[in-house]
This record gives sequence, structure tokens and C-alpha cells, in this order.
Amino acid sequence: MTTAPRCDRTTAWAALKGHYEAHGRDFDLREAFARDPGRFAAFGVEAPEVFADLSKNHLDLATLKLLLELAQECRLAERRDAMFAGAPINHTEGRAVLHTALRAPQGRGPHSAEVHEVLDRMLTYVEEVRDTARSGIRHVVNIGIGGSDLGPQMVVPALDAFVHPGLNFHFVSNVDGHDITPVLRKLKPEETLFIIASKTFTTQETMANAHVAKAWFLQHGGADTAKHFVATTTNVEAAAEFGIATTFGFWDWVGGRYSLWSAIGLPIALAIGADNFRALLAGAHAMDRHFAEAPLERNLPALLGLLDVWYRNFHHYTSRSIAPYHQGLRRLPAYLQQLEMESNGKCVDLDGERLPFGTSPVVWGEPGTNGQHAYFQMLHQGTDVIPVEFVLVKRPTHPHADLHAKLLANGLAQAQALMLGKTTEQARGEKAPTASSELDAQTVARHRTFPGNRPSTTLLLEQLTPRSLGALISLYEHRVFTSGALWRINSFDQWGVELGKALCNDLLPRLGSGELGGLDGSTAGLLRRLTA
Ligand code: F6P
Repeated sequence: MTTAPRCDRTTAWAALKGHYEAHGRDFDLREAFARDPGRFAAFGVEAPEVFADLSKNHLDLATLKLLLELAQECRLAERRDAMFAGAPINHTEGRAVLHTALRAPQGRGPHSAEVHEVLDRMLTYVEEVRDTARSGIRHVVNIGIGGSDLGPQMVVPALDAFVHPGLNFHFVSNVDGHDITPVLRKLKPEETLFIIASKTFTTQETMANAHVAKAWFLQHGGADTAKHFVATTTNVEAAAEFGIATTFGFWDWVGGRYSLWSAIGLPIALAIGADNFRALLAGAHAMDRHFAEAPLERNLPALLGLLDVWYRNFHHYTSRSIAPYHQGLRRLPAYLQQLEMESNGKCVDLDGERLPFGTSPVVWGEPGTNGQHAYFQMLHQGTDVIPVEFVLVKRPTHPHADLHAKLLANGLAQAQALMLGKTTEQARGEKAPTASSELDAQTVARHRTFPGNRPSTTLLLEQLTPRSLGALISLYEHRVFTSGALWRINSFDQWGVELGKALCNDLLPRLGSGELGGLDGSTAGLLRRLTA
């Protein structure tokens, strides 16, 4: 385990505290731009496939310098290199963290031979299924949850322009029967491929849905289970016991929320084909090299992670909103919720010591422009400051140039409005045609005032392609690594989901028996009502 110090025990942390009190708290974006015409260039960062505009953040060169010192003192580079080299940095599970090896070219990186053996075999299989005239497959149903669902569920619609036109993709995750029932209604066994996706092959939700799918398949005249069921798992024996002949494996050094690059990406590969899947991996690898090699002051994942620490621990912002201005990225916020909150939602450090500062922010959002007509009101005029992350894509894959121009103008305008705001004096100069005539002009103007100075980051992609999406996801992974490393937490376990699982196992039989012994009053009361 690393001996690198925790961020709050460094001299840079103390300096940052002083800097925040002196300059950070009252930092004003409008003044910063007025002072420095070169601000956009100074805070623009080029990374593979992604340009980031950090200039609308509460950052100046002095803050950045101190944050970089913090990264040095916390030995971020050393910890990053340990991850890439396969050190067992997930110490509570005794595992290496090597999702980066899944996207390294053949012959490079740890475990290369086994990674490429499975990848090649999987992609050969993919091309067979995609030959739909021969395979007869029209529908692919991925049954998995968490990391065995959210990656493919996010990527397949994001890359819609690249998806096989003759294949339909469905994602069943919830143990709620309302999830699988409407999906099965659309299917015919002979046209359907079920993927049972589970790292452990023991997850309650996934196994329950897998059994429902198998029973449905047999009841509806399905004949060839071996052809229509495939598993992606590290637990090949359990898949065989379930009756699955075709299995694509992966390894315990691939964390669930980092697994879309492994066999868990099978639905993605089926959707976009072997070459495009390799392009997705190549984009992620390009970002891996950037994170591994670029100096920290031009290293985009590192800079975003440092900014996250600045906002969370000094400004005390508790959430960050993700606004992808691309409908295909509608599941990106959900994907990032698991990536960031399951990774960094921890309250003890590597030594098990209780942390005296905040860790993962709440990550949430919706695609633009829809979010603008829902919660952006709060982002502009609410009492909390919530940094927003805009994801803009320059070139669409549809032919409607006028729609795309409107989309981009909206994204730019929201970031601008958050920063510029509107003073009460400016508002007084405007007409408010719908205001009650009983209200005086100053009161109306106050309601129409925007505080402004609200921070945002814009991530700009040329086009949403397999390669650029791979780079974008990898960027987020390494950014989460960075803040986790500075906080000195284990970003790669998830013990927080275990207690609920154990209690569920206790409650499930009680729903049948009505047995209430030993339960707390509230749970007993609810159970009594549910079983009456
Ligand atoms: O929610 C906990 C978790 O272990 C996630 O980390 C994981 O992605 C998910 O459950 C699914 O697990 P499995 O792939 O083993 O079914």
C-alpha cells in the first residue's frame, strides 16, 4: 500500500486553504476574463479527441500551481504508474486494477495474451451474429446490472449512427418484473440472443432475470439454448451450470464499473461491429497514454480531478451536473453516477481512518436542451452553486444542420448565462410584460436577477464516434482515479452495497412467512402491511 500522504496532510493543502480564504472565495469569473484576455487559451486543454475549456471555472494560475503541488506531494504520478503496472491497489479485495490493459494494443501492457485471445474470439463471434441473414438474430437482450449494464446501455445509443440496422438492443437490469416483461413481449425465441452479463454470476437481480428469460424461451418454443444464450463473466463454471455453452470471460482485475472494455462490452461490439469496437478501445488507449505521459499541467484527467478536489474540499460544492448536448449521451449521467459515486463514495482512507473532508460529489444530469426546461432554473438562480459540465459535439451524425446549430447555441448560451448572470440594474432596464401591475419595478427586477459567476467546464468533441467516445469515457475514469488518489481512498471496492444485499436475503423469506421477529418497528410495520 502506498505511503503517499493524504491530501489534507500536505503543505500544499494548507497553502490552498489560505489561498481560498484570500482569493478563492470571492473569485469572480467576469473580472478574471476582463483582467486577462488570454484566459481562454491559458485554461484550454487539448487531450486525445477532447478539447476542454476550463476557463469558466473558479481557477487562476495561482490556484492551479498549488493544486499541481498538491498532486506532487500526494505522489499522484507514482500511484497512477502503480495502477498501470498492475500493483494490487484495490487492497481491500487484494486485486490489481487493470481496465487499461483491456484496451492496450496487442503485445503491450499486462495480460496482453489472454486479453487479446478473448477479444479476438469475441469479435469473431460478433461478426457471425451480425450476419443476420445467416444467424437469424434480430434482437439482443443484455441481462445485467450496475457495471454489467450501464456501460453498454450508455454506449449503444450514443453510437446509434454506427449500429447494425438489422439488430435491436434491449437492456434488462432491474429485478422488478416491469423491466423484463415488456421486453419479452416484443421477442420471438428464434430471433433473440440473450447475453447474461455478470462478473460474479451470482448477482440476485441478474440471475433472477436470467431464469425468467430461460423459462420464457423454452415456454415459447425456443429450441437451441446453446445458440440463444451467451454469458460474459469471470465465473465460467457458474455459467456452465446455468446451461450456457458460449462464454466470454474476463478477470478479477477488471472492476464492474470499468468493465465495458472487456467481454461485458459484447452488446456494444454486436451493435457497432468488430472494427468499431476496436476503435472504441483505441480511443480509450489514446487517453490512457495521455494520462500516463502528459505533464500534469497539461494532463486533462489530472486537471479535472484536481478541480474536483478544489470544488469539493475548498468551495464545498456537493454536486456536479452533467449536461451532454447530444441525445445519444442520454445515459451518460447514469453511467457516471456509478463510475464516480461507487468509486469515490467512501468515508475512510486506505488505512481505514475516518476522513475529515468530503469525497464524491453527487453526480447527476440530463441531456441538453431538456434539462434547461426542468432544473436549470435552480442552476441559474438557486441558492447552491453547482458546477456544470457541458459536453458539446461539433459535427452531428444526422442531416439536420439547423437543429444542430440550435442545440450548440443553447449549450453555449447556458454556460455563458451561468457565468455572466444579470444584475438587478440590468433587469430594471428590461420589460417584464407578465408581471402583476401591483409589483414595483425593483421587486420585479430582483426576481429577474441572476447572480452569475457560476462555474462550468465545456468538453468539446469533433464528432461522437467510437474512438472519441472511448477517449471520453477513459478521461472520466482517470479523473475519478485522480481525486480518489488525492483523497487516499480505495476507489475500486464497493462494500457499501453489501449490507443491503444481506438484509434483503433476510427479508425475502419473511415476505412469504410474515415472520417479524427481531425487526425494527418501521420495517416490521411495512412488512405487516405488505403481507396482510
Ligand atoms: O452494485 C454492486 C456491484 O458489485 C457493482 O459494482 C457491479 O457492477 C454490479 O454489482 C453487478 O455485479 P455483477 O457483474 O457481478 O453481476
